[in-house]
Amino acid sequence: MSRDHLVATIRQQADACGQLGSPLYRDLLDRVAGDVAAGGPAARVLAGHEDDPGPSGLALRLTGTVHRLVLAGEAPTLAVHYPSAGGTPGRPAEVWAAFRAVLEDHPAAVRRRLDQPPQTNEVGRAAALLGGLLHVAARFDQPVRLLELGASGGLNLRADRFRYEHVDGSAWGPPDSPVVLHDAWRGPSPPLHAALRVMERRGTDVAPLDPATPEGALTLLSYVWPDQLERLRRLRGALTVAAEVPATLVRASARAAVESLQLVDGRTTVVWHSVMWQYLENAERAAVLRRLDELGSEATRDRPLAHLALEPRRPARAAPHEFMLTLQTWPGEVEVVLGIAQPHGPPVDWRPAG
Ligand SMILES: C[S@@+](CC[C@H](N)C(=O)[O-])C[C@H]1O[C@@H](n2cnc3c(N)ncnc32)[C@H](O)[C@@H]1O
Repeated sequence: MSRDHLVATIRQQADACGQLGSPLYRDLLDRVAGDVAAGGPAARVLAGHEDDPGPSGLALRLTGTVHRLVLAGEAPTLAVHYPSAGGTPGRPAEVWAAFRAVLEDHPAAVRRRLDQPPQTNEVGRAAALLGGLLHVAARFDQPVRLLELGASGGLNLRADRFRYEHVDGSAWGPPDSPVVLHDAWRGPSPPLHAALRVMERRGTDVAPLDPATPEGALTLLSYVWPDQLERLRRLRGALTVAAEVPATLVRASARAAVESLQLVDGRTTVVWHSVMWQYLENAERAAVLRRLDELGSEATRDRPLAHLALEPRRPARAAPHEFMLTLQTWPGEVEVVLGIAQPHGPPVDWRPAG
């Protein structure tokens, strides 16, 4: 096994970046793959990782680590090509020359971080989560306790402090919020009239990041692709909101978090998560669902429970994954699909039934 495997996984990631709207990373990773094949500085930096499995995201660990150096001001020659640092991408060959120079100049700094999985917190997904929360608030008119599983930096625990705009001109949320999600929803809106009051914000993650520290903020920023300015704007805005609106973030698995959960009278308990289910072993998934059912059997209209999930799922066995927003409530009905989001959130196609 081999360099060929590594070259192939980097090329796959290059294609994925192109499809997901990062021409900068598409072109860069294409050249990284070529450099690995040729035994250049990228091959030296990635030595020892030749057989890393594709899903470990080695290519994104590499780009994230280099982006971190750019944002920290340690790679000024590359920064001139990175929109995240105020630059404008030059021709692909020029960008690659600057990237390659970072690998040559900082091999130890880059290698040190390659073992850390990319850690993102996608603020755009709040478009789906908040819309779902409005459905819950419309159904149960009492204050909400939020528990987020796999919360990362916990930024979306402040989703009620963001501004959401529908293409039809309607909007929800503080007009002066530093986070504005343009084109958040398409089709019918979620119930914008619902009175939403969030009284408790609690997140758990096996590797939580503190967005209030420069280190935590830099980590979150570094894994956003540098030419995706809208995502960066949202993230920077959410870091500002997080500094003003406290939330509790603890290191715990999803299973441990729900096992210690209890319902509270006069409060709607909402357990939500986005793009984290795929990381759980089957046994942990089953344990989480079992515990939610158990809590659901104790739920009443005075202490209801809601499970809101934004996760990639197949609508049919052979169909491609869709980022589906689902809601189940106790007391209530079976799980319903409220809408279909994009991988990074907006626009969310809202379902009329939702
Ligand atoms: C792709 S990130 C998504 C983060 C956030 N939910 C979002 O949508 O931006 C997946 C998160 O799940 C966390 N995670 C992975 N396994 C977990 C587990 N067993 N229990 C809790 N969190 C877990 C990871 O640490 C990571 O923060």
